[in-house]
Amino acid sequence: MRWRKIKTLIMGASLFLILSPSVKAQEIPSTHETGEQIEKILTDKFAEGKYSTKGADSCLMCHRKNNTVMAIFDGVHGDINNSKSPMAGLQCEACHGPLGQHNKGGKEPMISFGSDSPLSAPSQNTVCLGCHQKTEQSGWHSSLHNMEEIACADCHKVHAAKDPVLQKQQVSQVCTSCHTRQKSDMNKRSSHPLKWNDMTCIDCHNPHGSFNESALKKTSVNDTCYSCHAEKRGPFLWEHAPVTENCSTCHNPHGSVNDALVKQRVPQLCQQCHADDGHASRVVTPPGADAFGAGMGCLNCHSQIHGSNHPSGSNFAR
Ligand code: HEC
Ligand code: HEC
Ligand code: HEC
Ligand code: HEC
Ligand code: HEC
Ligand code: HEC
Ligand code: HEC
Ligand code: HEC
Ligand code: HEC
Ligand code: HEC
Repeated sequence: MRWRKIKTLIMGASLFLILSPSVKAQEIPSTHETGEQIEKILTDKFAEGKYSTKGADSCLMCHRKNNTVMAIFDGVHGDINNSKSPMAGLQCEACHGPLGQHNKGGKEPMISFGSDSPLSAPSQNTVCLGCHQKTEQSGWHSSLHNMEEIACADCHKVHAAKDPVLQKQQVSQVCTSCHTRQKSDMNKRSSHPLKWNDMTCIDCHNPHGSFNESALKKTSVNDTCYSCHAEKRGPFLWEHAPVTENCSTCHNPHGSVNDALVKQRVPQLCQQCHADDGHASRVVTPPGADAFGAGMGCLNCHSQIHGSNHPSGSNFAR
């Protein structure tokens, strides 16, 4: 196989040069640099711009036996027929930066990616954002993921036929590799059907951030819920204030040990707010003893807890 080499300077790794702190020429690098030193070396390499003459061929001379490396040709970034793909331009060096002296035994560093990379996440990300401006223009910059220095490559695999995070069956798994609390929640007694991947984290969240709280796709928690639970939107003749305000006052959308994702069991759930309301605050007898303790507790009578359209439904009893 012969990899076409095009001399036009494409975006991608070239942006790294612009956004990295510029420093003056470095000593000959050894293999024990800190992340910061490596960033400086790479910045200098960029300034020098010693790209290989044979593109991917010069890399594959040494890296061909690594199956991970070769898998890039099964994915979109290895598609030489897409004129915007790295493979149609600077090839490997579009992401990993110019070869420079790296071919002298592989000691001089290249830009590398993911959690093992000595480079900071923002530096890694400038490479990707060089071509992916749509992501850049979305909520990415103000997202907590960006602020917390999560790298694109913490979620994405580009040396793969199919990036796992783009597969419905695997995306939640990628998310919960970091979000362990949500992982434990989604496996609790009641939860959204996340563990079977019938639903995924990105049904509600935008992984690249959004301008809404908690990176939700919809403008509010309630609008998120209404998109699937439309019947809860109302309008109701009698509205229950906390319901119209925020569903997550009572529900944990990720899961709960209680039925119906409620954060606390009834009656405690109700008594957080209704402790002073006469019978609402009464000590609840053991399950089964009377209408307060049995079955659904307060809900035995106040069954329309999300709101009522009955003319005399002001107590949510009908
Ligand atoms: C003369 C052989 C040789 C050539 C040519 C070569 N490399 Fe390397 N490369 C190495 C060696 C050796 C290492 C360090 C050992 C390792 O991690 O595989 C390395 C490491 C790397 C790493 C870091 C891997 C990591 O796990 O952090 C990247 C990225 C890389 N090379 C990319 C390239 C690219 C892109 C090219 C072509 C522009 C290239 N290499 C050409 C030998 C070579
Ligand atoms: C030289 C340009 C370039 C660079 C650099 C680049 N990409 Fe891409 N990327 C593309 C092109 C072209 C596509 C194909 C889709 C398209 O045409 O827009 C693509 C597609 C993708 C997709 C969608 C994949 C799919 O299967 O649909 C993801 C995810 C992605 N890139 C992530 C990254 C990440 C992460 C980085 C940095 C490590 C990166 N890209 C760097 C050009 C680039
Ligand atoms: C928290 C994990 C995560 C991070 C971090 C992340 N992505 Fe994504 N990305 C995803 C998921 C999940 C999708 C699929 C979105 C969908 O299907 O709605 C996606 C989709 C994409 C796509 C293809 C669809 C599109 O929006 O064009 C591109 C390109 C992409 N990401 C680039 C990037 C770049 C560039 C970065 C870093 C600036 C990045 N991503 C950071 C998880 C992530
Ligand atoms: C679109 C940007 C992009 C292009 C083009 C690209 N890489 Fe990578 N490379 C990455 C990312 C991101 C990783 C981290 C692993 C992953 O995401 O799959 C990586 C990982 C590597 C590694 C470390 C692999 C390991 O075993 O951990 C080597 C070596 C490497 N790339 C070499 C190459 C070579 C050689 C080419 C050209 C044939 C190339 N890369 C093309 C982005 C790129
Ligand atoms: C590499 C680790 C990592 C991965 C993978 C990851 N996240 Fe995060 N995420 C974080 C960190 C760190 C924060 C900030 C601290 C926190 O809230 O836990 C965060 C925050 C969030 C937030 C809160 C955002 C806000 O503005 O309040 C949401 C929502 C989120 N992540 C969803 C996701 C989703 C969905 C995925 C998978 C597509 C994902 N994360 C993958 C590390 C990760
Ligand atoms: C049914 C919609 C929905 C799904 C599915 C969902 N979330 Fe959330 N998530 C929310 C809402 C709503 C909030 C805001 C919670 C609040 O206001 O208390 C949130 C908040 C978060 C936060 C911010 C921290 C917090 O608890 O407030 C993180 C992190 C998060 N979600 C991660 C995930 C991950 C990871 C998944 C997949 C396992 C996921 N979410 C699936 C709706 C959802
Ligand atoms: C993408 C669609 C979707 C969104 C968005 C969504 N849900 Fe759900 N919800 C479902 C599905 C599907 C079920 C499971 C229905 C079933 O098992 O019959 C469910 C079930 C529930 C249940 C009952 C769980 C049980 O164990 O009985 C509650 C409570 C719930 N959702 C609350 C919420 C809240 C609160 C929000 C907003 C934060 C929300 N949902 C957003 C799809 C969604
Ligand atoms: C005041 C606390 C409270 C608030 C706020 C609340 N719920 Fe509920 N929700 C409950 C209780 C308690 C149950 C259990 C009722 C049952 O088992 O019949 C429940 C059950 C559910 C169910 C499953 C049973 C059914 O009625 O379909 C869904 C879905 C649901 N709630 C969605 C929502 C949505 C969407 C919102 C926001 C618009 C919301 N809830 C706000 C207390 C609340
Ligand atoms: C987050 C606080 C909160 C929680 C939790 C809550 N409520 Fe309410 N509830 C309110 C508020 C506020 C009103 C409106 C009170 C008013 O208008 O005086 C209200 C009104 C009511 C009313 C109508 C009576 C009236 O005074 O208008 C009933 C009945 C009621 N709640 C029952 C319940 C039950 C049963 C639960 C548990 C499933 C519950 N509430 C949970 C805050 C809450
Ligand atoms: C046996 C049926 C029944 C049960 C069980 C019940 N309620 Fe009521 N509740 C009522 C009736 C009937 C009213 C209207 C009383 C009135 O108008 O005097 C009411 C009124 C209320 C009100 C309006 C303020 C008031 O006291 O008039 C609140 C708040 C309330 N209930 C909360 C609760 C909570 C919280 C629970 C669970 C601890 C609960 N209720 C259990 C029947 C019940």
